[in-house]
Amino acid sequence: MEKIIIEGGIPLRGEVSISGSKNAALPIIASSIMFDDSNNELYNVPNLQDIVTIKKLLISLNAEVKDSDDGKLFINTSTINNFDAPYDLVKTMRASVLVLGPLLAKYKRARVSLPGGCAIGARPIDFHLQALRALGASITMEHGYVEATAGKLKGAEIIFPIPSVTGTENIIMAATLAEGTTIIKNAAREPEIDDLILALCNGGANIKRVMPSVIVIKGVKKLNKLSHYIVSDRIEAGTYMVASAITQGDIIVKNVDLNHISSITDKLTEAGVKINVISPSSIRVKGPKIIKSVDISTAPFPYFPTDMQAQMMALMSIANGLCVITENIFENRFMHVAELRRLGADIKVCGNFAIVKGTGALLGTDVMATDLRASASLVLAGLASSKDYTSISRIYHLDRGYEAMEKKLSGLGAIISRVDDSNKTDYNDNEDYLTSQSMQSIASGIK
Ligand code: EPZ
Repeated sequence: MEKIIIEGGIPLRGEVSISGSKNAALPIIASSIMFDDSNNELYNVPNLQDIVTIKKLLISLNAEVKDSDDGKLFINTSTINNFDAPYDLVKTMRASVLVLGPLLAKYKRARVSLPGGCAIGARPIDFHLQALRALGASITMEHGYVEATAGKLKGAEIIFPIPSVTGTENIIMAATLAEGTTIIKNAAREPEIDDLILALCNGGANIKRVMPSVIVIKGVKKLNKLSHYIVSDRIEAGTYMVASAITQGDIIVKNVDLNHISSITDKLTEAGVKINVISPSSIRVKGPKIIKSVDISTAPFPYFPTDMQAQMMALMSIANGLCVITENIFENRFMHVAELRRLGADIKVCGNFAIVKGTGALLGTDVMATDLRASASLVLAGLASSKDYTSISRIYHLDRGYEAMEKKLSGLGAIISRVDDSNKTDYNDNEDYLTSQSMQSIASGIK
């Protein structure tokens, strides 16, 4: 089992380049199913485990996928003749559900495993299924699979109860080849959705975000060629901004879309971090000697992103006071608290509130990643920890969403390495232990 070992207390210096967005690449790769051209091309695709998974999924449908090591991806979906997304792939990545809309749009059929549980919450897909039914699909559930068919899909008015990112993406794709016009109200506003819309429109679709939360899709007969450069990853950018803040660093973050990180920039500035724009796509981030404690409340875009909550909790753990972090999107997204506590953080959880008393410093030790953003939070805490080393196990979570993180951090002066200690038995590395622990924490509510 691989681990990451960090010697903390080193201020980061230098430049880091942000990769393409995981959460834009996933729906756009899924959308290739709808294009007729046999040579769809994507650029700036991040080299991540989740991208490997969705490529495997397309190949399991008998699409042809070729990639190069410089972020190019060539996809031919004209060979698709299988419409099943199997459990063993979907269970490793919930975003596999994003093939549902494209398969229904193009082939009027799909059989997609229900994603099953996830560390951060139940994450149902009921909004996706209700909306697809509104477009005329017939949806049944059998043996843990969604069985979807449609004689034809017809435009409809869809109102999401709460803005769902992949729900909005699935319906945009399903409606793209439907008959007539679809209006999505209370649509999610995340920029990754607008990158999907851009990619689809450049390939012949007719989609407009007519108001911040309203998207209108006029169905077209066909899509010709998908050719798109994936937008920069705003959550990766935010993570490196916090890396500089937490180590009193001074770094340049390049290839950033400044319009996508305003809520992160605002919150870090409030905490005393100096952020200057130095070009249309790069910023300088200087961490202060003292980090101010600031309250954080997660919400859909354009407000503070839930995907940055764990990273900010690591920063608040070394701040100079008390703050409240409120997680409003997922019901169990505090799995990193127990591990941050092992590093000396003073955090109390009550329902979806975490009260963080900044201790000014953390001390290195062994910790275990539990989900993607929690693993990033532990790396950040390790970078800030003085004395001893921090070792982080189960780093396959990190590899799902961060491209070459050790390399990028080493380039900024961090002392960080990946070791393989599969010969040692990691008694902690036990799903049941984690599950029972997380179940206890949910059951207890107040700790
Ligand atoms: C997307 O997940 C992202 N994943 C998540 O990023 C991100 O945290 C999340 O949006 C919120 O911003 C991808 O884009 C691949 P939602 P998604 O549907 O679409 C509830 C990461 O770290 N809901 O917007 O699954 C749901 O339970 C990942 O990169 C329903 O109840 O999230 C949640 O409480 C983690 N029924 C809320 O809505 C539904 O049918 C928002 O979820 C759908 C959602």
